[in-house]
Order: sequence, then C-alpha cells, then structure tokens
Amino acid sequence: MSDQQQNNGDGKGDQELGAWERLLGCTWKTPLGFLGVGLTTVSITLIILGLIGHLTGLIANHYFAIFTFLFLPAMMLFGLCLIPLSCYFRRKKWFKDSLINTEHLKIDLADKEHRKGILLFIVLSVVNITVLILVAYEGYHFTDSSYFCGVVCHQVMDPEYTAYQRSPHAKVSCVSCHIGPGANWYVQAKLSGLRQVKAVIDGDFNRPIPAPVEHLRPARDTCESCHWPEKFHGKRVKEFISFTNDNQTDADTQEISLHIGGRNPITSEFEGIHWHVSHDIKVEYQALDEKRTKIGKIKVTRPGGVTEEYSIADEVPEEGVALKWRTMDCIDCHNRPTHVYDGLEEVIDFGLHSRKINPEIAGIREDSMSVLKTEYSSRDEAAEKIVEDLLEHVAKRHGNEFVAEHEKEIVVSGSFLLEAYLNNVWPKMKVTWGTYRQHLGHQYADDGYGCFRCHDDEHETKFGKIIGQDCNMCHDEP
Ligand code: HEC
Ligand code: HEC
Ligand code: HEC
Ligand code: HEC
Ligand code: HEC
Repeated sequence: MSDQQQNNGDGKGDQELGAWERLLGCTWKTPLGFLGVGLTTVSITLIILGLIGHLTGLIANHYFAIFTFLFLPAMMLFGLCLIPLSCYFRRKKWFKDSLINTEHLKIDLADKEHRKGILLFIVLSVVNITVLILVAYEGYHFTDSSYFCGVVCHQVMDPEYTAYQRSPHAKVSCVSCHIGPGANWYVQAKLSGLRQVKAVIDGDFNRPIPAPVEHLRPARDTCESCHWPEKFHGKRVKEFISFTNDNQTDADTQEISLHIGGRNPITSEFEGIHWHVSHDIKVEYQALDEKRTKIGKIKVTRPGGVTEEYSIADEVPEEGVALKWRTMDCIDCHNRPTHVYDGLEEVIDFGLHSRKINPEIAGIREDSMSVLKTEYSSRDEAAEKIVEDLLEHVAKRHGNEFVAEHEKEIVVSGSFLLEAYLNNVWPKMKVTWGTYRQHLGHQYADDGYGCFRCHDDEHETKFGKIIGQDCNMCHDEP
C-alpha cells in the first residue's frame, strides 16, 4: 500500500478515516502540498503581525512595508495555488491506490464531521479574504505613495525625487501629476510601472530619463484639479539677481512684473500669459523635434470655431519625428513645476547673494564655477573632493597663507557648492547642469527653450500676422 497510509502519523488506522480526511490529510503530506500549506500559513501569520504593526503605527519602516504589502501577499497567493495543484498531480495515484473514491467524496450535511469541516473552511476563507483585502488596500496606498515612487527605484528616480522634495509641490504626491483620478489611468500606470520595474532590473533604461515625457496625462486632468485658469488674475513681481566675475559684490537686480493674466473684469476677455490655456481658446502646435524645442505650425482656435494658422519658413522635422498636433497645456511652459534643477551660474549667484559663498574673496565666483564644472565620476567622489578643490583653486589664486587665514569661510563656501552639486548632478544617470531646462521665460532661448519658440517674430499667418516679442505683452519692461 502507499506510503501515505503507513505514515499517517496521527495514530489512527486508515480504516477509521473518511475519504475526505484522507484526501485532506494526504494533500499536505506531499512535498508540493506541504510547501503550499507551509507558505500560506507562515505568510499569513507574518502578514497579520505586519498589519498590526503597521496599523498601530508601531513599525513605520518602508522596507518593512514592501515586505508586508508586496512580498508576503505574493508568497501567500503562491502557496494557496500550490495546494489544489498538489491534489491535481497526486489524484491519479490516489485513485489508483483507492485511497480516495469519488463515491465517498460527497458532502453530507447530516454528518457532524462534515459540518465541522465546512465551518472550518468558511472561517479560514473569511480570514484569508479579510487579510487579502486589508493588504490590497494598504498596498494600493503604499504603491501610490511618493516614497514608493521615489525611493524603491532609488538610483533611477533619485534626481526627480531630490528635485521634487525641494519644490513648491513637495507635499503633492507623484500620482496627482503622473496618474491623476480615474481607474483607467490607474491601470495604465500600474502596467507601465511593471514594464519600468523590468527595465530597471535589466538595467535597460535611458540615462538621463528623456524629457518631455511622451505619454504624460494632459495637464487639464491633473494640474487643473488644484489650479484652474479661471482663478488666475493680476501680476506677479519677480526679482532676478545676478553677479559677474568682475563684480561679485554688487548684484544686478532685474525686477519684472509678469502679466499672469485672467479675465478682464470689464471686457470679460481672457488676457495675459494664461490666455493659452483659458477654456475659450485652443492653441495647438507641431513640434519639429522630440524635445519640442523647435516648433513648426501653430493653430489657434477661438470661440465660435474661428481658426488661425501660423507657419514658419523652415518647417522640416528632424529625422524620425512624425508631425503631430499637440494641444498646448500647462506643461508646455511649466515643464519643470516640481523637478526643478538650478542653473550653474544661477545657483552660484544665489550663494553670493545669500552670503553662503563669501563675495569678499576675490575670484571666488570664477573658482566656484570651475569647481562645479568638474566632472566627478560619482556623487561620493564629489562629496570627498569639492571642498578640497575649492581650497586648492583659492590657494592658486591667493597663495597658501591666504587660505590658512580664511580657511573657515572657504570651507563654508565649499560646503554650499557641494550641496548645490548634490541637488543637481547624478553622474550615473547622466544628469548634470543644464540636462533638464525649463520653458518659462527666455533665459535659454538660444537653446530653443521658452516662450520665444513661438514668440519669435517669425511664425506668420498667410496674412502676415506674427506672434510677437513685444516685452510689454508679457511683463512690464525691466
Ligand atoms: C506637480 C506635478 C508633479 C509631481 C508632484 C511629480 N511630477 Fe514628475 N513630472 C512632472 C511633469 C510635468 C513632468 C514632465 C516634464 C516634461 O515633460 O518635460 C515630470 C517628469 C518626470 C520624470 C521624467 C524625467 C524628467 O525630469 O522630466 C520622472 C522620472 C518623474 N517625473 C518622476 C516623479 C516622481 C518619482 C515623483 C514623486 C516623487 C514626481 N515625478 C512628482 C510633474 C510632476
Ligand atoms: C494636489 C494639488 C496640486 C496639483 C495637482 C498641482 N499643484 Fe501646483 N501648486 C500646488 C500648491 C499647493 C502650490 C503652492 C505652493 C506654495 O505656495 O508654496 C502650487 C504652486 C504652483 C506653482 C507656483 C510655484 C511658485 O514658484 O510659486 C506653479 C507654477 C504650479 N503650482 C504649477 C503646477 C502644474 C503645472 C501642475 C501640473 C503638472 C500642478 N501645479 C499641479 C498644488 C498643486
Ligand atoms: C504660456 C505659458 C504658460 C502656460 C501655458 C501656463 N502657464 Fe502658468 N505661468 C506662466 C508664467 C510665465 C508664470 C509666471 C511665474 C513665473 O515666471 O514663475 C506662470 C505662473 C503660474 C502660477 C503662479 C501664479 C501666481 O499668481 O503666482 C501658477 C499656479 C501657474 N502658472 C499654473 C499654471 C497651470 C495650472 C497651467 C495650465 C492650466 C499654466 N500655468 C499654464 C506661464 C504659463
Ligand atoms: C512671450 C513673453 C515674453 C516676452 C515677449 C518677453 N519676455 Fe522677458 N520674460 C518673460 C517671462 C515669462 C520671464 C520670467 C521667466 C522666469 O520666471 O524665470 C521673463 C524674464 C525676463 C527677464 C529676467 C530674466 C532674465 O533673463 O534675466 C528679463 C531681463 C526680460 N525678461 C527681458 C525682456 C525684454 C527686454 C523683452 C523685450 C525684448 C522681453 N523680456 C520680452 C516673458 C517674455
Ligand atoms: C506653442 C507656441 C507658444 C508658446 C510656446 C508661447 N506662446 Fe504665447 N502666444 C502664442 C500664440 C499663437 C499667441 C496669440 C498671438 C495672437 O493671436 O496675437 C500668443 C499670445 C500670447 C500673449 C497675449 C495673450 C493675449 O492677451 O491675447 C501673451 C501674454 C503670451 N502669449 C505670453 C507667452 C509667454 C509668457 C510664453 C512663455 C512662458 C508664451 N507665450 C509661450 C503661442 C505661444
């Protein structure tokens, strides 16, 4: 007879056991069944302990959350699948050994043992399902948390996560901009998330991650849940401060008053900078390159369906780029609302202005630039060398005695440079100064960024109307 029968182990002879008991008893005595029962029992116990720890706030570690909400449930489900699978594999043998017999495998509610068995089955199923629902709920929130997006793929997302944490949106979750409301986008995002996890495991992803993001959800559905065009009004004064290598002490200050725009209370026309996204107007354009820095045709649709089309003399798309109409939205200007990187000179000038870099040390602006432009092989190397390198540059200019005398100030300046470096440069991801630029304004117009992509006096309708560059249209003259 079969070995199961002999090793029944609980002292009872097989004759005394019913067909059901034999079947269930034998299931977990096969290696596969044992693995299934074991995995399920161990996982569910740990999950319950984990949930208690998590819900009572006793354990707030995120790696622990990954373990409890992703790894253990996967193990539990895997274990649950193994149990029927093991029955399936063994069923032939069981039939052959006449260990079970379909005739006896009937549920008989009059039988007390059967009732007990059914009750046990129901209780266990309710426990399993409750635990799975709780885990799915907590797991859903956890995989939507900014922490999960930013830290789980640490190396890949580090630039975006670091920039995000310093931005005005630091408390807005990644998913409010990247997924937005609705089940459809949620499912799409999780599927593309799975592809991304695979890409990260294979090391097969772009460095740097390319911008613009091709399939970003239209800003209407995301940004507009918190900012809506009808809310804009008035002007915003912005101050731009800069220094030069020859003059590190007196800032050149430009104060401009930006015409943010909104509805004119008298004419009720939407005016100013946010005119492009007012709901009366639709502005579409065709980009000639993937970065959307060269713009070909532009089409404006006004209320009542009146359209106007602007074109430019040189309208040849870059190789491999198919011309497509894109409706202009927030991202065409605010492409860096939260992943905001600094400009190299801008950050040094901020240091001088806030006196974190001591402007009294002659030549320190130029030396700071040389230091920040150095290509360190890693962030660790930069952390080790930046302060040292600044000391060396200053020593070259002023001699060792000067450095000994001013060491403390130079070290403070060096620490500021290091912080700036760590906020902006990731050699492994090939992210460095100027990798990601913004479209607000026209500081980087020479490289194709900003308003002057369209406001270039060259985009023209067939009647000769151009998209103008008149300073007063966007801000009071500096
Ligand atoms: C306020 C809205 C907002 C939030 C919050 C936000 N992002 Fe973004 N993110 C954007 C926009 C807009 C772009 C597209 C930039 C472009 O197309 O040029 C982007 C682009 C990216 C990119 C592509 C690379 C790049 O820099 O363009 C990554 C990766 C990214 N986000 C990750 C994250 C992660 C991780 C979080 C949360 C820690 C997050 N984002 C939070 C708006 C947001
Ligand atoms: C969940 C709400 C929320 C979403 C979604 C959101 N924002 Fe914001 N945004 C805010 C809040 C709150 C502030 C104000 C922060 C402050 O004043 O410090 C802000 C500030 C801003 C500012 C002003 C920043 C500055 O320098 O003062 C801009 C520009 C902006 N958001 C653009 C966007 C864009 C573009 C998107 C979509 C990609 C977006 N926001 C999505 C909540 C949101
Ligand atoms: C044509 C370019 C453009 C478009 C399109 C655009 N913005 Fe702006 N937005 C600007 C500029 C320029 C400013 C001025 C602030 C600055 O320079 O930092 C600004 C300012 C803002 C501010 C700060 C307002 C204040 O009063 O301080 C918010 C918030 C904002 N935009 C959100 C949005 C949202 C949301 C959208 C999409 C519905 C959008 N913007 C579309 C160019 C644009
Ligand atoms: C299509 C709109 C637009 C036009 C036209 C325009 N500007 Fe600007 N300008 C902006 C915006 C938007 C900013 C703010 C950028 C930011 O917030 O970073 C800006 C910023 C500036 C600044 C401060 C930043 C810097 O680059 O130093 C100066 C100076 C400036 N503009 C000068 C001018 C002058 C002079 C003209 C006329 C020849 C002009 N602008 C025309 C939109 C415009
Ligand atoms: C994709 C092309 C495009 C880009 C990029 C663009 N604009 Fe415009 N803008 C237009 C068009 C088209 C008009 C309408 C011109 C007309 O009909 O006179 C316009 C009109 C304007 C107006 C006048 C709106 C009114 O009151 O009637 C302002 C102000 C303006 N833009 C500011 C900006 C600023 C600031 C930026 C950069 C942050 C910018 N634009 C970027 C296409 C663009």
